[in-house]
Amino acid sequence: MKEVKVLAPATIANLVCGFDILGMAIKSPYDEMTLSLCDEPGIFIKHTDEYQLPEAAEKNVAGVSLQALMDDYKKPVGFNLTIHKNIKPGSGLGSSAASAAGAVVAANHILGNIFSKEDLVRFAMNGEKLAGGVKHADNVSPCIYGGVTLIRSIFPLDIIALNSPDLFVTIVHPQIEVRTSDSRQILRKEVQLKDAIKQWGNIGGLITGFMKNDCELIGRSLEDVIVEPVRSILIPGFDEVKLKCKNAGSLGGGISGSGPSIFMLSKEEETAYKVEETMKEIYEKIGVDYKTYVTQINQDGVKIVE
Ligand code: HSE
Repeated sequence: MKEVKVLAPATIANLVCGFDILGMAIKSPYDEMTLSLCDEPGIFIKHTDEYQLPEAAEKNVAGVSLQALMDDYKKPVGFNLTIHKNIKPGSGLGSSAASAAGAVVAANHILGNIFSKEDLVRFAMNGEKLAGGVKHADNVSPCIYGGVTLIRSIFPLDIIALNSPDLFVTIVHPQIEVRTSDSRQILRKEVQLKDAIKQWGNIGGLITGFMKNDCELIGRSLEDVIVEPVRSILIPGFDEVKLKCKNAGSLGGGISGSGPSIFMLSKEEETAYKVEETMKEIYEKIGVDYKTYVTQINQDGVKIVE
């Protein structure tokens, strides 16, 4: 096995109430990456997309994640990595996580699957640290495991893969960039007990809703009284999108990761497209460029295609 191609999906971190602990993989968009072994030890990265991301391994999220894997592997090895990103950096759709997770899944495949999924998450979190300043696993875990994951703890790592109903996901990505580091910086460091109690109730409700396929419970648990009120001010049209999409039949939704993308979940495909129309109307009216996606939960995570 000398070369492998993988598709690394976008992810929706937080899932509204679960800041840094919940995440979901979606079917599109996804990045395309090809990894091959080379004779010279080291990591050699090439981007074929338009985003002008750094290619030096120590400055690239995939590069530092591969380096973490190689440090554990302990034998000299060389990798050539080509990355074609379709997930725009700074979109809130787990762009850095896709690069990091895709790279380590591909490397593990080439090396004979010697590492566990949990190991791969540990390696890929180094990419998140480079991108956002903090090791968080709520994008890389669903990207690697697929579906919805709960990160009960990062140190030590404790990841729980959750069941989920086959929901439809509608996303609008207003074309403004919100850097994860900036949108973390503005958060309050203290939480009021009354808000924490509400949040605990919603997290418990959301997880139970996923496990029991209870879509109405999922919908009413998609409420965030801690992070969303602060971050949503960075996203033009946020309150209107949420309200009108719910009126269009969506179960609920909120900020995807650290934004600016907004996601809404729906039970039926038809509703998901109605929600997309609602999003389009709002951004046409506001006059902000946008991109929309109608997709589904991706139960597989990073996919090896050849
Ligand atoms: N949990 C992280 C945050 C996800 O909201 O900052 C970033 O994609």
